[in-house]
Amino acid sequence: MNPLATALNDRLQEIAPFLFRVLSRKGKESYFPKSGILAQSMEARETAINATIGIALEDDRSPMHLDAIGQRVHLDPKRVFPYAGCSGLPELRQQWKKLQLEKNPALAGKTTSLPVVTCALSHGLSIVSKLFLDPGDTVIIADKYWGNYNMLVQERLDVHFDLYPFFAGEGLNLAGLRERLQAAGTGKKVLIMNFPNNPAGYTPTKIEMRELVQLIKESAEAGNDIVVICDDAYFGLVYEADVDTQSLFAYLAGLHERVLAVKVDGPTKEDYVWGFRVGFVTYAAGKNLSEEALRILEDKTAGGIRSSISSSPHISQSLLLEAFADPDYAREKREKYALLQSRYKKVKAILAANRERYVPYFRPLPFNSGYFMCVELAPGLDGNAVRRTLIEHFQTGVIFIRGVIRLAYSAVPETRLETLFENLRAACEMNLHA
Ligand SMILES: Cc1ncc(COP(=O)(O)O)c(C=O)c1O
Repeated sequence: MNPLATALNDRLQEIAPFLFRVLSRKGKESYFPKSGILAQSMEARETAINATIGIALEDDRSPMHLDAIGQRVHLDPKRVFPYAGCSGLPELRQQWKKLQLEKNPALAGKTTSLPVVTCALSHGLSIVSKLFLDPGDTVIIADKYWGNYNMLVQERLDVHFDLYPFFAGEGLNLAGLRERLQAAGTGKKVLIMNFPNNPAGYTPTKIEMRELVQLIKESAEAGNDIVVICDDAYFGLVYEADVDTQSLFAYLAGLHERVLAVKVDGPTKEDYVWGFRVGFVTYAAGKNLSEEALRILEDKTAGGIRSSISSSPHISQSLLLEAFADPDYAREKREKYALLQSRYKKVKAILAANRERYVPYFRPLPFNSGYFMCVELAPGLDGNAVRRTLIEHFQTGVIFIRGVIRLAYSAVPETRLETLFENLRAACEMNLHA
């Protein structure tokens, strides 16, 4: 083990033994190189003749670049071409933390780490999973999950998904989660929670959120060491008044000394910048966890970045900083939210108006947020066959995933939504009578 990792672990054992316990072997081995090239470059950054940095400079010390690129970007080249640093731009990290607090008032007065910039959420999930999961470990996760978790987490790390049904009736299956937490005795439990959920498009109601937090607390009180990875990819896209608008992370922060909350979030979907590849990993202290302990986790996360992609795109981070400071930013976000919400409402209206007609073919699952909703097909219908019929006969694309059809109403103009559902009904009918 690298001596820097040993030093971090020794300190963790002293100040936060719970955190040391929940780290995987790779998590324990992780460290951020405080000596070596990066550190030596940092020390030399004010020198007149700086021959440390791993980029090329013009004679006037501006970043070397091609005009073919530079003339297309209206930002100072210094904010575009050089590396942004392993943990991301310090100003962006500060700004994102401020935004997290604004969006989640429940975080007020609680200790959270500085968000570490990753190459979007997928990368953050990958790093975090490796820090807390060893091969053979189990992840407690509901059966409605983003398909890429299979590759990112299950297959890459050789861990097992302990699935429970996401829904019970018209709401969250909290009893199912409680049961999974109680199974297999007391010990380390790693959970992945994704709200608004992909594919279900569901977020806990305020009542469900309280129950969810309470049951995680009870599980910690029963002696479990709990790591909750909150995948907040679709954060903010909540369309009903009874649904909780804050992240589970905000309620888990400071909850219990044996609960570590990890927030994986970013502008990908929140700010409609899918291709920017910027995300964040943030840790929240359980009770009695110090900022120093969280900084150690930041270092271990930065080590994960250094050893995978080295750093995230600078140009995207700079553009985001500009956007967050733009006086029109908040208004534009509200407008996009309103557009998605009106599509959501239209889908609800279509389903309500056509309940009887659709019942023989499909049943909508509960949804209240995000980009998607799912329908369960009537017995006898093959989802993949329906999907193919939709493409071949109706010029309509949907996803069939683990027994349900997922419809991304976020991507369909309001005027086409009715046709989308009518096409689905017609494709089901064709298959049922085929
Ligand atoms: C639930 C969920 N988490 C994470 C991601 C990945 O986001 P990113 O594009 O930022 O890697 C997605 C993307 O579809 C998602 O649906």
